[in-house]
Amino acid sequence: MKQFKLGKSNLDVPAIAVGCMRMSSLDLKQAGVFINEALDLGANFFDHADVYGGGQCEEIFAKAIEMNSSKREKMILQSKCGIRPGVAFDFSKEHILNAVDGTLKRLHTDYLDVLLLHRPDALVEPEEVAEAFNKLQDQGKVKNFGVSNQNPMQIMLLQKYLRQPIIANQLQLSITNANMIKQGLHVNMQDDGAINRDGSVLDFCRLNDITIQPWSPFQFGFFEGVFLGNDKFPELNKKINEIAAKYNVSDNTIVIAWLLRHPANMQPVTGTMNIKRLKDCVVACDICLSREEWYEIYLSAGNILP
Ligand SMILES: NC(=O)c1ccc[n+]([C@@H]2O[C@H](COP(=O)([O-])OP(=O)(O)OC[C@H]3O[C@@H](n4cnc5c(N)ncnc54)[C@H](OP(=O)(O)O)[C@@H]3O)[C@@H](O)[C@H]2O)c1
Repeated sequence: MKQFKLGKSNLDVPAIAVGCMRMSSLDLKQAGVFINEALDLGANFFDHADVYGGGQCEEIFAKAIEMNSSKREKMILQSKCGIRPGVAFDFSKEHILNAVDGTLKRLHTDYLDVLLLHRPDALVEPEEVAEAFNKLQDQGKVKNFGVSNQNPMQIMLLQKYLRQPIIANQLQLSITNANMIKQGLHVNMQDDGAINRDGSVLDFCRLNDITIQPWSPFQFGFFEGVFLGNDKFPELNKKINEIAAKYNVSDNTIVIAWLLRHPANMQPVTGTMNIKRLKDCVVACDICLSREEWYEIYLSAGNILP
């Protein structure tokens, strides 16, 4: 699988990250088969969060493969913290430290390769985040740090106090949720495409070597469903079918190839728990869509060009 460095770090990562948010839908045996087959595909980067399945996803993951140090060395583990169900968001030092301890326990490991702050906390005190990150790094519990769903100003605010570089920003991005791309095409126009919803996060991340990890690459809306094979997107499905047939690959492959074709070197986070679909996503690393194909797909999702 195609590899690159995650952000400014020295961490070599595969271009596709395996999201584990839906792992609690599997039993231990199914999860074990899925994880081992993913590793065989070179998909050894796993994305977790303390809140996925209320902690069950991390637990199932470790139990399913009977995690030990030799298995741990073969994989790159990322998890997230900062969401407190029933409360809201919490970037306090105490919460971050406790959350990481919980994740390490559930994953049966003593370190995370990457920790992301899951969703912005309106009450963030960056000095406290810095203290938490320093402690986690000094204790060897977390090697690298990043964020998720944050805009450039929020990242700059944190970065002012952090001694570690923010190396990743996990953001919702798919062909049908492509605001961050759309606004760059509609600069200074009168139409809604020009509405800047994220402070130009795409350009900011490229300028600062922060890897964007697109989450939910197959979903439209906020978890409304999969756009592939969906009657709501006839033109898009027709175009994806046509290009998939040309390359002799599946529709899923083309969806991921569309994200990988962007020169920002993004690392899509897939959510499938089906090994055949994950394999189709990995195949996307071998496909380089032409400029024309990339724009045709963009337009077939209902987007327009100025
Ligand atoms: N940072 C954040 O705020 C945030 C938020 C949400 C998610 N995430 C991360 O992103 C990862 C991916 O999110 P996601 O699971 O929503 O992503 P996704 O890959 O867009 O969706 C996966 C779901 O779509 C189904 N699917 C995919 N292709 C399909 C097809 N051709 N036909 C029918 N069903 C299809 C999968 O079913 P099968 O399993 O049957 O293939 C699975 O249920 C998560 O695991 C998590 O790690 C992060």
